[in-house]
Amino acid sequence: QIVSDYCVQVRELGYRLQELISESLGLEKDYIKKVLGEQGQHMAVNYYPPCPEPELTYGLPGHTDPNALTILLQDLQVAGGLQVLKDGKWLAVNPQPNAFVINIGDQLQALSNGTYKSVWHRAIVNTDKPRMSVASFLCPYDHALISPAKPLTQHGCGAVYRDFTYAEYYSKFWGRNLDQEHCLELFKN
Ligand code: OGA
Ligand code: NI
Repeated sequence: QIVSDYCVQVRELGYRLQELISESLGLEKDYIKKVLGEQGQHMAVNYYPPCPEPELTYGLPGHTDPNALTILLQDLQVAGGLQVLKDGKWLAVNPQPNAFVINIGDQLQALSNGTYKSVWHRAIVNTDKPRMSVASFLCPYDHALISPAKPLTQHGCGAVYRDFTYAEYYSKFWGRNLDQEHCLELFKN
């Protein structure tokens, strides 16, 4: 019951964020929701055991999230587990009480024609404490046609990415190593 309530609430939050992101781009409020269709929702409960030699491994190697939007709940007991890449440097994103980390996924980068960036992030392990995180992924339906929003391609820059379906993207994404180049590079015009 608790988990199912959590899923419903997180989905509502994701929809609200998608509406606000649409509006921030000068698009209709429900633009993103319409394009993504009946969105899939996956939950990953990540458990990172303590590791005697943390410098030899990652909890999760560097990656961008292939979906649309990710809502991450971090373990308040462990700082420094999540890092994001900013200006070529890995920075810790420490857990805050009553706060989620929101990741823009690759699909929102594509739809926004590159205005929103799907951030590189990774999880690292530590020697003494296990860490947990709960990631909720909102995903376009398989046949959603992902294409830079037309109003964003009309002033000079053109469409940065070619059109693709989410199914095509997803199979390309998992057909390579996670920490290779940004998967969207393969879809550039
Ligand atoms: C993920 C992810 C980070 C974390 O599951 O995609 O980035 O802190 N997790 O567990
Ligand atoms: Ni991730």
